[in-house]
Amino acid sequence: MKRIKVKSLLNEKAKGQEICVKGWVRTRRGSKNVSFIALNDGSTISNIQVVAEGDHFEEDLLKRITTGSAISVIGILVESKGGGQNVEVLAAAIEILGDADADEYPLQPKKHSLEFLREKAHLRFRTNTFSAVFRLRHALTFAVHKFFNDKGFSNIHTPIITGADAEGAGEMFQVTNFDLDNIPKNENGIDYSQDFFGSKTNLTVSGQLEAELAALALGQVYTFGPTFRAENSNTSRHLSEFWMIEPEVAFADLEENMDLAEEFLKYCIQYCITNNEDDLRFLDKRLEDEEKNLKKEERSEMGLLERLQFVIESDFVRLTYREAIDILRNSKPNKKKKFQYIIEGFGSDLQSEHERYLVEKKYKKPVIITDYPKGIKAFYMKQNEDGETVRAMDILFPLIGEIVGGSQREENLEKLTTRMEEMDVDKEELWWYLESRKFGSCTHSGFGLGFERLIMFVSGMKNIRDVIPFPRTPQNAEF
Ligand code: 4AD
Ligand code: MG
Repeated sequence: MKRIKVKSLLNEKAKGQEICVKGWVRTRRGSKNVSFIALNDGSTISNIQVVAEGDHFEEDLLKRITTGSAISVIGILVESKGGGQNVEVLAAAIEILGDADADEYPLQPKKHSLEFLREKAHLRFRTNTFSAVFRLRHALTFAVHKFFNDKGFSNIHTPIITGADAEGAGEMFQVTNFDLDNIPKNENGIDYSQDFFGSKTNLTVSGQLEAELAALALGQVYTFGPTFRAENSNTSRHLSEFWMIEPEVAFADLEENMDLAEEFLKYCIQYCITNNEDDLRFLDKRLEDEEKNLKKEERSEMGLLERLQFVIESDFVRLTYREAIDILRNSKPNKKKKFQYIIEGFGSDLQSEHERYLVEKKYKKPVIITDYPKGIKAFYMKQNEDGETVRAMDILFPLIGEIVGGSQREENLEKLTTRMEEMDVDKEELWWYLESRKFGSCTHSGFGLGFERLIMFVSGMKNIRDVIPFPRTPQNAEF
């Protein structure tokens, strides 16, 4: 008999039809006479209730229906007598597909901490919280592709192994198949001509440079791939391996870039509200429960769903870096030296405490900051007339901080090469990138959205390790 998924079953009308359902047991309760089994198969956050009457089933079989075991049930779909669900399955036959020894199975039908579940990342998919988060992650993946496809963008697969340091920050994982105990040397040091690719290579930190090349022919492109950063930052917002979406658009300036990013973010959030209502409702409640333990001033002002709706309906505030610095310099926490990093003036890098002040205290809305000092941004950004700032934009979100970083690109060959020299970026290595400015160069812009940061915002999860199945962070690459 073909199995029906729980999600479909719950939408069916109970007419005494015979059905087959398979899944993992969340709980079994009841008495000698009757067992109530909550069964979940991952198709929805909700469980189907299976009722097993004691005189139909051997006690030995019922005992094996423990939390975490996999079972197959054939039974009759009936209207539920209990509250909480419309239909339930009156079991006629139950087969144990896989036991889960209650003494050994780590997930018990009680609340486990997120830290504990991180150590059980191989099993945490089976919890309500993580199944909801990973269904959302899928929905967002789909929304990203749909958004760009509907707008006529082409998805470009940029290389994962590359010689280029796109951000010029040097935080790269090297890729080599050298025997590390016996590295070939020449008079200049390591002889990379003998390495696998004949040159020094690393895992990509961004697909942007290659995406720019494609945009200058296809017009509108986007990448969606893994990126890798060897920065040693052990925070709740950084991963060593994360996924990034990088659109790049020919003939678009910074204004159009910001418009695209704002529309894109709102689209993705709306997509989840429309398509993942049950999961969001569950996560909304979860967050509310979690925050009950916090002091009043530490609780979020809005619930999750309320916050998502609010962001969709808000116009993002747009201000320049200079304006942001003025606001921050005159802010209470700056004057009272409450910030860890005091804002002195132009040139200060914005730390997450400053970003959060602007977004959560001052404007209470997403904020886009533009025209940063060139000294704290990458070499490829378009230089402004003032000689001091570049056409950069960062989008800051409540509770997340920076979610998007982007810019208009420097399309002038001479200005670009001068800047590369000033910043010590290797021109020979990036000869192919420079040729895009030599042949048919034009205005173009793009940005990068940190996919996990978007999932954090939509799911309300506060640690980035809880929105990617198997997080990679300093000192941790298990699973
Ligand atoms: O601001 P970033 O470094 O920008 C770039 O890489 C550009 N090449 C993008 C472009 O213009 N095409 O990174 C973009 C976004 C950040 O805003 C942040 O959301 C995310 O990527 N991000 C990280 N997410 C998780 N862990 C990390 N270590 C991250 N570093 C950046
Ligand atoms: Mg950035």
